[in-house]
Amino acid sequence: MITNLFFLLFLSTVYSYNILVYSPSFAGSHTNFMARIADTLTDAGHNVTFLVPIVDETKKDQLSVKTTKDVVIVEQDEKMRSQVLPVDDDMGQYWETDITSENIDTAFTVFTDAVHLACNNFLRNKQVLEEMKSRNFDVGIYEPLSVCGLGFMHAIGIRKTITATSCVFYDAVVDAIGEPVDFSYVPGQMSASGDEMSMTEKVENYRMSTALQKLNIFIWDRETRIYNKYLGPQIPDWRDLMADSSLHFVNSVPYVDYPRLVTQKTVPIGGISVDIQSIKSSVLPKDWSDVLDKKNYNMLISFGSLVKSKDMPKNWRKSLVEAIKSEPNVTFIWKYESDEVEWAEGVENIHFSKWVPQTALLNDHRLTAFLTHGGLGSTNELAHLGKPALMIPIFADQIRNANMLARQGGAKVFRKHDLGNPTEIKKAINSIVFNQKYKENAEKLADLLMNQPTNPKEQVVKYVEFVARFGPFPEMNPRVRHHGFIENNLLDIYSVMYFPYFVVFVLVLTISMLGYSKVSVRKVKRD
Ligand SMILES: *[C@@H]1O[C@H](CO)[C@@H](O)[C@H](O)[C@H]1NC(C)=O
Ligand SMILES: *[C@@H]1O[C@H](CO)[C@@H](O)[C@H](O)[C@H]1NC(C)=O
Repeated sequence: MITNLFFLLFLSTVYSYNILVYSPSFAGSHTNFMARIADTLTDAGHNVTFLVPIVDETKKDQLSVKTTKDVVIVEQDEKMRSQVLPVDDDMGQYWETDITSENIDTAFTVFTDAVHLACNNFLRNKQVLEEMKSRNFDVGIYEPLSVCGLGFMHAIGIRKTITATSCVFYDAVVDAIGEPVDFSYVPGQMSASGDEMSMTEKVENYRMSTALQKLNIFIWDRETRIYNKYLGPQIPDWRDLMADSSLHFVNSVPYVDYPRLVTQKTVPIGGISVDIQSIKSSVLPKDWSDVLDKKNYNMLISFGSLVKSKDMPKNWRKSLVEAIKSEPNVTFIWKYESDEVEWAEGVENIHFSKWVPQTALLNDHRLTAFLTHGGLGSTNELAHLGKPALMIPIFADQIRNANMLARQGGAKVFRKHDLGNPTEIKKAINSIVFNQKYKENAEKLADLLMNQPTNPKEQVVKYVEFVARFGPFPEMNPRVRHHGFIENNLLDIYSVMYFPYFVVFVLVLTISMLGYSKVSVRKVKRD
């Protein structure tokens, strides 16, 4: 209600801006984040275009924009279709494979190759270029997984851009915009440890972060060559375009995320994907309500949509079912993608479903706890809806998300490799469902988030309008980017400051050496 009033106020007082939101279709969580930004701006009365180059055909009908009607889809042409591999096919391997600094460079090859092909495909399409040029956009918003759209925005005359990161941050972006990459106490985007690290963990955090940065830079350099080829060599390098963004939105909730140093251009809008108003007003369908009424306790199990439950190693699945059997007073609602469930025959307290109304269930007081993979979307929903959770991260940024939320005391992290151990998983499920400590802490965090002094939607609207009027703020660019290692580590200052001491030191050393050699000469003579 208050939000609606707030938007109405905006409608009546603010000029409507033309805003381009560029969001290639390749993964649900990324698209959903960009779609929420687009819809928030549309709801505030702006003229938003959602531009979607198709990276993954199967994600084409999951664009998740609702109120934004101007959706421009750039289809794959014949050439791209003949080159691209299906993105989803090999995700099952991540149940058992860990992503580390050793294999990160090849772990996402199918994704990054598809994004690369999509960039070529997108820029070959001159019709879209002309069409977009004619719309005179005031502001362009892009996600820095790809810089193809950033070069494109420059080519069509957009000088006010905003970087919007659907993860808490990308290590390479942090460095590119002049923020410190503090490996010693900030877990990198795909770090396997929290902010208190042992020496081994620090080394891996450093190596992972460096490897990820290298990977991103490789992708962006390659894309820069593509946009320079299609749009002209005058389009600046991604390093300049990214650093010159008017603002950097990040999907981080400051009260939940690990603290780190940022520039004044970075605006946290974490939680924008959680539409609290609509979740709180939604009604759980009757058949789901009946499921929750069966027993006094209910646990939702979902491993997300990328790495599927149906591909879980069979012995892990078996021990999970054993744990479920040992809790007859709890109904387990398991998001499971297949009808082949005879392996769970006779277990009366499992309810399988290919789709679950996740947020409506998390919002229901009858749902006791959540077993989740810890995708950032689910993690933010959990934080805002205040349910205790057992987090079993599978890959990518999920370990970091899980550690991050567990810090608040409402969730517990469980290593996926321990899924093979029925006793461990039994113990973990039992404590999350029945130990009140987790429930209390989770509810406390949700209460805090509901009462933040500002909210992400308001931030997005106010900041984007401000950029449209006054951007792009080159005065806010920290000079650190133009400095080398010596300047950034104050080595030049130290050397000037300590030069006199150095001179004295050298003098003293020389004199004493001379003295010593005379003494020894005399000694030799006497002998
Ligand atoms: C909004 O964008 C559409 C499509 O470019 C255009 O036809 C329309 O005139 C725009 N409206 C405003 C208020 O700028
Ligand atoms: C299930 O609930 C019943 C009734 O409250 C109780 O007696 C029983 O011990 C519970 N079973 C387990 C395994 O917790």
